[in-house]
Amino acid sequence: MAEYALELENVKKTYGKAVKTEVLHGLSFSVEKGSFTAIIGQSGSGKSTLLNIVGTLDQPSEGMVKILGKRTDSMGKNALAMLRNKTIGFIFQHHYLLPEFSAFENILMPYKIAHGRVDEKAKAYAEELIRLTGLEHVKNNPANEMSGGQQQRVSIARALINRPEIILADEPTGSLDSATTDNIYALLRELNQKYHTTFVVITHDQEVAQKADRIIELKDGTISLDVVPENKQGG
Ligand SMILES: Nc1ncnc2c1ncn2[C@@H]1O[C@H](COP(=O)(O)OP(=O)(O)O)[C@@H](O)[C@H]1O
Ligand SMILES: [Mg+2]
Repeated sequence: MAEYALELENVKKTYGKAVKTEVLHGLSFSVEKGSFTAIIGQSGSGKSTLLNIVGTLDQPSEGMVKILGKRTDSMGKNALAMLRNKTIGFIFQHHYLLPEFSAFENILMPYKIAHGRVDEKAKAYAEELIRLTGLEHVKNNPANEMSGGQQQRVSIARALINRPEIILADEPTGSLDSATTDNIYALLRELNQKYHTTFVVITHDQEVAQKADRIIELKDGTISLDVVPENKQGG
């Protein structure tokens, strides 16, 4: 039996009070542990709304989300924040690094928040992530003195520091050139294979989507396609 990192049942989202607009129309799907899923779809189709709900940053108007088998709708704010911080790493297009802090310090920040302090074990893991993301030569640079690609690598390493079982990424390479984009996706895949981290990644890039284990396409708030890419089919 498959084990699921994420399960959604009839998830709906409505925005607005006076004028209500439903932007997600009852989505149901599950994501297997350790899999790499690409979410594609036109701008405005509901991708970010969906990812924020999956990541418990936003609540569905209706329906249910389970993370690692746990229902999130019945959890209190604190329990939810704890589950999120321990289980999920987020990578956004705009990385929100602390500009004055070094790459190394930025990477360790979620650990510090979760544990109140940074120990030798965490530092060693941060060093490992720095090697993995190829940031050795800039690790002591302040975040605002690095290139866009380097900053994005820092945000990826930061998303991994608490060893989350799930990584949610919203167009993580949207502001980068294509060579850097290729490198970063290769890195995400490597992490997926090395740590069996579950990835759900919103992307505009067809090439990237074709390399995923699964492609889900949203169209006007419904799933219009849910497929295994051609190159993965068969045996
Ligand atoms: N906070 C919000 N308030 C009202 N409408 C929103 C809000 N966020 C998103 N929307 C609307 O929901 C729809 C889906 O948006 P979004 O999830 O950002 O799409 P995508 O990420 O695919 O571009 C759009 O029509 C957008 O205008
Ligand atoms: Mg979006």
